[in-house]
Amino acid sequence: MKIAIGSDHAGFALKEQLRHTFEDVAFVDCGTFSEASCDYPDMALKVARMVVGGEVDSGVLVCGTGVGMAIAANKVAGVRAAACSETYTAKLTRDHNDANILCIGARVVGPGVAEEIVRTWLETPFSNEERHLRRLRKIERLEAEGQ
Ligand code: RB5
Repeated sequence: MKIAIGSDHAGFALKEQLRHTFEDVAFVDCGTFSEASCDYPDMALKVARMVVGGEVDSGVLVCGTGVGMAIAANKVAGVRAAACSETYTAKLTRDHNDANILCIGARVVGPGVAEEIVRTWLETPFSNEERHLRRLRKIERLEAEGQ
């Protein structure tokens, strides 16, 4: 599995931890590369473009809350980014929403919970059920119409 991963300064330490925890995952590190202050939309855009371009299977973004990353990544057509702070939501964003980018808040969850969220997210496939596909098609239509 190939995953693009990115963070801002607030998420840098957790990004590094995650990269070294999931050894069977091939991570493409989209930065940031230090704790120097930076702007989360820059890394969100890099990861989002890799995901919609099909260069990776999905993406993980880490900032202080996970929310800024999700807002920024969701501006890219084709991205379904979800900020998760517990495993139930992480599971359902895959099962129901076919989320393709997971966003985590390093200032919201501890390293252990973050690891469980990522594990759950990576292990949960999209259900492929008709009602969920129908809803996703409606989202795609909204995107195409620019609404
Ligand atoms: C950075 O201070 C912080 O605003 C950022 O990491 C993130 O939480 C934004 O959503």
